[in-house]
Amino acid sequence: MDKIFSGVQPTGNLHIGNYLGAIKNFVELQNNTKQSTCYYCVVDLHAITVWQDPTKLKKDTLETVACFIAAGIDPKKSIIFNQSKVSIHSELAWIFNCVCRMGWLNRMTQFKEKAGKNRENVSVGLFTYPVLMASDILAYKSNKVPVGEDQKQHLELARDIAKKFNNDFEVDFFPEVEPLIFGGATRVMSLRNGLNKMSKSDISDYSRINIMDSKDLIVNKIKKAKTDSSVIMGEEVLDETGKLSKEIINQRPEACNLLQIFSAISEVSIKETLKNFEGKEFRLLKEALADALIKKIFPIGNEVRKMLNEENYLTEVLEEGAQKAKEQAEENLKEIKNIIGFI
Ligand code: TYM
Repeated sequence: MDKIFSGVQPTGNLHIGNYLGAIKNFVELQNNTKQSTCYYCVVDLHAITVWQDPTKLKKDTLETVACFIAAGIDPKKSIIFNQSKVSIHSELAWIFNCVCRMGWLNRMTQFKEKAGKNRENVSVGLFTYPVLMASDILAYKSNKVPVGEDQKQHLELARDIAKKFNNDFEVDFFPEVEPLIFGGATRVMSLRNGLNKMSKSDISDYSRINIMDSKDLIVNKIKKAKTDSSVIMGEEVLDETGKLSKEIINQRPEACNLLQIFSAISEVSIKETLKNFEGKEFRLLKEALADALIKKIFPIGNEVRKMLNEENYLTEVLEEGAQKAKEQAEENLKEIKNIIGFI
């Protein structure tokens, strides 16, 4: 039986990158793999690797849970909880800190990007962030992890940690961690610059479509999205696997991004999308994209707004989820401690 685990940080501004790259797939896995257990975690411990205002952290945690549910994650079918409620995540992270090598963490590109020139002054937690990720996944001995493309390297590290633990202690305890990176938009780019990933922390709100955006704001952001001066290309830009080729993504990043978002949101293949828009101006694609976003994303945001008035319901979901998660993790931790030699 598969065990599926994934997490989202409660750092506000959940956007269509989070939705298309991760949350939409969480729902699909929940509905299509009836035999599996799905753990969907609001990773508040990861959030505090950079400063978080306590009041805002609480609000963003509830908003993330509401977004999970509004998008279709059913707390009766999946285990929804927040990370800080299950202390085993932190405990196992310490054990994995002693398994993981400095060299492995030094190679993490996301740390380099986030720390930039400020390396000496960022938190130690930001450096060991991927170790905590490994412990999130392996506390439940999960083997499948749905994420956006940007998390691939972190999951390779989780796999290395599991392997080294198994090797060091000569056991076959942890499973192999497999990233599930699927869907039409595994790496959604900024609407202002097609070379940058769409991100919660981009200072320009016009770089992303947030789940909570109003209809007018969606229309405006798409209208202002960067494009180029040529007309829309045709099917010839697909590679042999039916995806947009690397060359065209390099040449026309903004055009490719809008086409990919449209294809993923409206669930029309990229081939069909290119066929429909070939030779046309971006204005037409933008109108269709804004309509599709209003149809798909706006209702989720609306549902979130409603749910935020039912704070008790949301905190109950987290409490119940944490209880279920704890049961499984406690059993595993007992075995882990025994393997290590803790009495
Ligand atoms: P976070 O909150 O930064 O992102 C949540 C999910 O959204 C995906 N994502 C994107 N996908 C496509 N295009 C984008 N522009 C885009 N931006 C974000 C991310 O890949 C992620 O799947 N470190 C994780 C949280 C985490 C986790 C875990 C994930 C903590 N522990 C254990 C899996 C397993 C993160 O990036 O969160």
